[in-house]
Amino acid sequence: MIRVQGLTVAYGAVKALVDVSFEARTSAITAVLGANGAGKTTLLRTISGLKTPVAGSITHDETELTAMKTEDIARMGIAHVPEGRGVIGEFTVEENLRLGALTAKLNAKQSLENQYERFPILGERRRQHADQLSGGERQILSMARALIANPSVLLLDEPSLGLAPLITAQIMATIKDLCASDDLTVILVEQNASSALRIADHAVVLNVGHVVANDVASVVAEDENLRQYYLGMVS
Ligand SMILES: Nc1ncnc2c1ncn2[C@@H]1O[C@H](COP(=O)(O)OP(=O)(O)OP(=O)(O)O)[C@@H](O)[C@H]1O
Ligand SMILES: [Mg+2]
Repeated sequence: MIRVQGLTVAYGAVKALVDVSFEARTSAITAVLGANGAGKTTLLRTISGLKTPVAGSITHDETELTAMKTEDIARMGIAHVPEGRGVIGEFTVEENLRLGALTAKLNAKQSLENQYERFPILGERRRQHADQLSGGERQILSMARALIANPSVLLLDEPSLGLAPLITAQIMATIKDLCASDDLTVILVEQNASSALRIADHAVVLNVGHVVANDVASVVAEDENLRQYYLGMVS
């Protein structure tokens, strides 16, 4: 479980997050929703130690993360799939995965086979350069690379970005399956509220750095006020 309490994060004088609190439960998907500039990416970057908060606490089970180094946070089993997917286009699928195994100091052969078994499309494309993959396949590759380290927490930054609706639905179904099969704590950041709410258990809505809703996903999905003013969902 990830517990965020009273988190405030700033870039100079600009506060990107103000007094943000919520919990992301184990074996559940917590969606973090909000418009451009709401602070979603900043939240994930702060959880994974890439950004230091001004105030507040983030704990994983009982361990405080805010004072830890990024690599130690990753070693604790917190995997971050960044916005834009973070795969290296000039590397093949296999080279991208090997890089993930290397970073996690794992036996590459077995780790790669596990991911090819889980995602057969990556096995078929193992010799292709990542920039030849479709957007959906690249998203699968970036998730597979994160999963190589057998994380307990998966932070996903806008996995649906730039994907057609049908591919988005497939990616969301994959995330739901992963959460269940690997007992993952998933924090799913999305501007695409309707897709995320379809698979989420819980939802946190941010508006210019402030939490405006923190509730069961189905409750958030049916709230007219949230849909209209914060989620850009047309009823
Ligand atoms: N490196 C930075 N330097 C200065 N300000 C930043 C930086 N990164 C983000 N910000 C500001 O912090 C606020 C939150 O940005 P953030 O990227 O976290 O939002 P977001 O919800 O991820 O937006 P998007 O949906 O566009 O990805 C914005 O006002 C943004 O301009
Ligand atoms: Mg973002």
